[in-house]
Amino acid sequence: MKIVYLNSSGGAGGLESALFDMLASVREAEPGWSLNLIVPDEGALAGRAREIGVGVNVLPFPPSLARLGDAGAGGPAGRGVGRAKLLGQLLASTPSALLYARRLRRVLEGLAPDLVHTHGLKTHVLGAWARPRGVPVVWHVHDYAGRRPVMRLLLRASSRRAAAGVANSESVAADARALFGRGRGVRVKTIYNAVDLERFAPEGEVADLDALAGLEPAADGTIRVGLVSTLARWKGQRTFLEALSLLPEDLRVRGYVTGGALYRTEGSQFQPEELKRMAREFGLERSVGFTGFVPDAAAAMRALDIVVHASTEPEPFGLVIAEAMACGRAVVASRAGGAAEIFKEGADALGHEPGDAPALAACVARLAESAPLRAALGRAARETAVRRFDRARLAAELVPVYREACAAGGESEGAGVMKEVLSGE
Ligand code: GLC
Repeated sequence: MKIVYLNSSGGAGGLESALFDMLASVREAEPGWSLNLIVPDEGALAGRAREIGVGVNVLPFPPSLARLGDAGAGGPAGRGVGRAKLLGQLLASTPSALLYARRLRRVLEGLAPDLVHTHGLKTHVLGAWARPRGVPVVWHVHDYAGRRPVMRLLLRASSRRAAAGVANSESVAADARALFGRGRGVRVKTIYNAVDLERFAPEGEVADLDALAGLEPAADGTIRVGLVSTLARWKGQRTFLEALSLLPEDLRVRGYVTGGALYRTEGSQFQPEELKRMAREFGLERSVGFTGFVPDAAAAMRALDIVVHASTEPEPFGLVIAEAMACGRAVVASRAGGAAEIFKEGADALGHEPGDAPALAACVARLAESAPLRAALGRAARETAVRRFDRARLAAELVPVYREACAAGGESEGAGVMKEVLSGE
């Protein structure tokens, strides 16, 4: 079997980590298969994929396409960007998208896959239109497409060309089914993400977060609390900083914001300077550090006593929660969307309502005050991760989806102008 994976970034976001683990899992379960990855840029995913024997093709996006609805940004579409502006962006990028899809089709024809597995909303559309005749495309949805006005239109219009759908949580599956499920004939199956349980483990290297943040080493007994995420605004950096400012003064806590600005979409992410200013406004200049992006996320998590996930919008899955659980950390997560499906409140993590800074502060204070509670949650979290997030499960669930899609064969070909433009007729 020959599979080509498409993603809209070769870099280092959550989606890219999740995809890497799928590649690794399938590679291990089916060593005889040929796996290829097509991404628009070089980065951590592209490099790590090569290391495990996946062929990597870098096919750069034209700039207007790169800016269009950056898939990894995750949050609700059009946030801070008006609908009209989005439609403008879409129109402006149409000619280059068509050209790109043509080039993509040529690359796909050269690779001659049995199946194409796409990740990222933009990539689903491109993959659906660029696939060679008769090759099934599986859409693996990592975000709420229904919240993105432009993407939802494009996905619906392309759904006849998708053989099957996969979603990273039940919550995302429900959103996807409403868009292109039953009525439109795309079956959507939930496959939860997984992590590398050896890499994300309680024991291992520990990052020096103080040094990375340019702070003096914290005094002994200081409880380290960190938000590990990209700097996308909906990841809740503000809620986290506000929660830290609400902690009782006698608690010896140091906060860390760990993450970098990854996306190209304008306005959807914080710049580090903005966050530092916000921390000063909350009176936290001496009690919060900004480490920037830390490539070894597991080492960063092991340096923390409490890992916080604070997304202010429903989180499609929240890979960082599963990773922190696998590291045996005490986790506080925002209880909405797919994230709410991956932990059991009070048993293997604590939860708070999205955006509720006082509730988050209460969870952090409870954990900071009790080493036994942190240890008990951390132990249970690791057990849950071993039971639910072992990446060997990924191949066991994906391979049947691939086989079924291939058995169903190439279904209807789209017609009309798109087809003509793409095939250069
Ligand atoms: C997207 C989602 C995130 C999920 C990741 C991997 O980035 O926003 O919640 O963890 O994909 O599926």
